[in-house]
Amino acid sequence: MSSKSEPIPMVACRAGALSGQACVPGDKSISHRALILGALAIGETRISGLLEGDDVLATASAIRAFGADVIRHENGEWSVHGVGVGGFAEPENAVDCGNSGTGARLLMGAMATTPITATFTGDRSLRGRPMGRISEPLALFGTRAYGRAGGQLPMTLVGAAEPVPVRYELPVASAQVKSAVLLAGLNAMGRTVVIERVATRDHTERMLGGFGAEVTVESTETGRTITLTGYPELKPRSITVPRDPSSAAFPVCAALISEGSDVLVPAIGLNPTRTGLYVTLAEMGADLEFENEREEGGEPVADLRARFSPQLKGVEVPSERAASMIDEYPILAVVAGFAEGKTVMRGVGELRLKECDRIDAVAEGLRANGAVVEEDRDTLTVHGRGTDGLPGGGCVETRLDHRIAMSFLVAGMAARKPVRIDDANPVVTSFPNFGSLMAGLGASLEEGAV
Ligand code: S3P
Repeated sequence: MSSKSEPIPMVACRAGALSGQACVPGDKSISHRALILGALAIGETRISGLLEGDDVLATASAIRAFGADVIRHENGEWSVHGVGVGGFAEPENAVDCGNSGTGARLLMGAMATTPITATFTGDRSLRGRPMGRISEPLALFGTRAYGRAGGQLPMTLVGAAEPVPVRYELPVASAQVKSAVLLAGLNAMGRTVVIERVATRDHTERMLGGFGAEVTVESTETGRTITLTGYPELKPRSITVPRDPSSAAFPVCAALISEGSDVLVPAIGLNPTRTGLYVTLAEMGADLEFENEREEGGEPVADLRARFSPQLKGVEVPSERAASMIDEYPILAVVAGFAEGKTVMRGVGELRLKECDRIDAVAEGLRANGAVVEEDRDTLTVHGRGTDGLPGGGCVETRLDHRIAMSFLVAGMAARKPVRIDDANPVVTSFPNFGSLMAGLGASLEEGAV
């Protein structure tokens, strides 16, 4: 699953029980932030457990281009020697963020208040995603943006020479937009305030505090108000990246729908802004057990045990939960295909703006495999077949989207007939060892013609 040049078709077949330990890679969101904040601190930030997926590696290259020194040690730890707030150098070439919306948007924020010019680009998927949601709040600091029509990449940002702090109410529930504004606020004198109506993942706020910035969070009637004081001197630190709950979702869900399974996923991050999937699965009747709950590096962590759950029931997933499980709807939709009755996922319109239109990709993929699915702009409904399970037998277009690829490979592990995907290449963006890890649990995955 590593070459990007040729598509790698893959087929997943039902192989019975999955069992053993699934050590999933480091958290993607936290990995990007560790590199970027490391680059904005003066001195050495040491990172263990960094996700070495393509998305994060693109961010590592980007911060090198902005002047930070980035080293991977033989033991797998990483060091970033940062240049300080306002210390970014002008990159000599366009900054290629690959497939990563998080990398692109956070880096845009991080450079926006430094008087340098940088052009951001990415792959076909990223070039199709909306960036006006970033350039608009950055304009309030004084940053100028020149993008393609519709605010798409490639986009050139001219950093503000005399940035002013801003007060910004998020028009969409987006941790990427929130983080871009906060990172830009670092190099603006005074207080930058971001207000979010719905809480989104809070890794940026937590990590900024850990690096020594003055950040306060208040719950008010209008929502969560985050206040950052500009011009902090960020202090380098050691960071242990917890394992990614969004990646853990794949072996966990595979275990829930594969007869006889019993899988343990150690040390996954359980930040409450990320756990919506697990709340939903518990409501569906999943056999999940959280063991050994503890805190590591400022984030709550636990070991999660998942066992085959033959009695899953369809549920209503409320729109208020969307932000806390935004990346997990594709795999939830697959699980819903194995539950009794219908699962209605409301308030999921943002899924249309991810690595691909995930509502459309999931609906098309499930239908190709015999499920009845309804969709409208903001809602996805899957009619599950209970113990009959998903028929399978279809081929799914992965559309440069890692989570679509992995979700349908998981579907094939439990469906009655094999499920094929047209291209497994995107998997390396977030879960480079997905194939070997799932095979180690007993799954049957094979590369082969569609
Ligand atoms: C992320 C935020 C989410 C999520 C993405 C990672 C982050 O995007 O989908 O995979 O690390 O901040 P939005 O902020 O667009 O919701």
